Amino acid sequence: MNALTDRWVPHPLASALLEGLRERPRAVAPKFFYDAAGSALFDRICELPEYYPTRTETALLAAHAHEMAECIGPAAELVEYGAGSLRKVRLLLEALRRPARYLPIDLSAEHLRQHALQLAADHPQLPVEPLVADFSAAIDLPPMAPGARRRVGFFPGSSIGNFTPDEARGFLERAAHALRGGGLLIGVDLVKDPALLHRAYNDAEGVTAAFNKNLLARANRELGADFDLDNFDHYAFYEPRLQRIEMHLVSRRRQRVRLCGEVFEFAQGEPLHTEISCKYTVDGFGALARAAGWRPQATWVDPAQLFSVHWLAAPA
Ligand code: AVI
Repeated sequence: MNALTDRWVPHPLASALLEGLRERPRAVAPKFFYDAAGSALFDRICELPEYYPTRTETALLAAHAHEMAECIGPAAELVEYGAGSLRKVRLLLEALRRPARYLPIDLSAEHLRQHALQLAADHPQLPVEPLVADFSAAIDLPPMAPGARRRVGFFPGSSIGNFTPDEARGFLERAAHALRGGGLLIGVDLVKDPALLHRAYNDAEGVTAAFNKNLLARANRELGADFDLDNFDHYAFYEPRLQRIEMHLVSRRRQRVRLCGEVFEFAQGEPLHTEISCKYTVDGFGALARAAGWRPQATWVDPAQLFSVHWLAAPA
């Protein structure tokens, strides 16, 4: 008999990192930060005094949940993109009338499962169906729950900023199709004083640095790479012309790293680009949403104008 050996399944991080290290300038997509350790580090970032987005958006959701729930309407099915620890959605769920189902989507499978179980226990009437998927590409959503009147997206945290404007438009177009007849409630970080932005991505405790380096730690854990984390610096800065934070890992010295049998040379000072975090004006984001087929209906902004939440109506 002709026995088959184990099926070879390509590891998404391996393919992305190998490709990213072969190109110049070197780069890898920020979605690879989020294994269990990366998601836990991101939760710590959200608690940092310098990282204003989480508490500002949370305060907006707490203050305006009822207006937002009015926009969403009764018996809606809620799809959350990049759900993380499912904290912010709780504020919305308290205000929503008879939500039909909640579908949290995230790449970090174990983190999602644990938090979805907890949320389901706290909302025994609500069907909760976590979906492990990458929303930077097309996703197959299950058919709408019986009894649901419309499907509404929830995309808090300004994770839209981790896409380039072109990628963001692609995401918004796909979401407009998936949520047609419904809407999208989305958090968007605003353009502001660069000093404030700089502090938010260079916290004193070094949690953001550890989050950035978790990419290398992940490669060591999952792929047997030999990155020496002390040989790379976390480097984050605001680029005002592109209205975005850029995050890099910069090689402290000339060094060699082995990954999946390939050796990569880093020059001293050579960067590996790991993340962008685009900031928008309210009008700029409205224009992007319109270009992707959405109709902006309402916007909530905090008094210091740090952060915005937008309600967008989907095409029919
Ligand atoms: C998830 N995302 C919106 C965060 C941001 O602010 O761009 C990720 C992050 N990177 C460094 N700090 C936080």
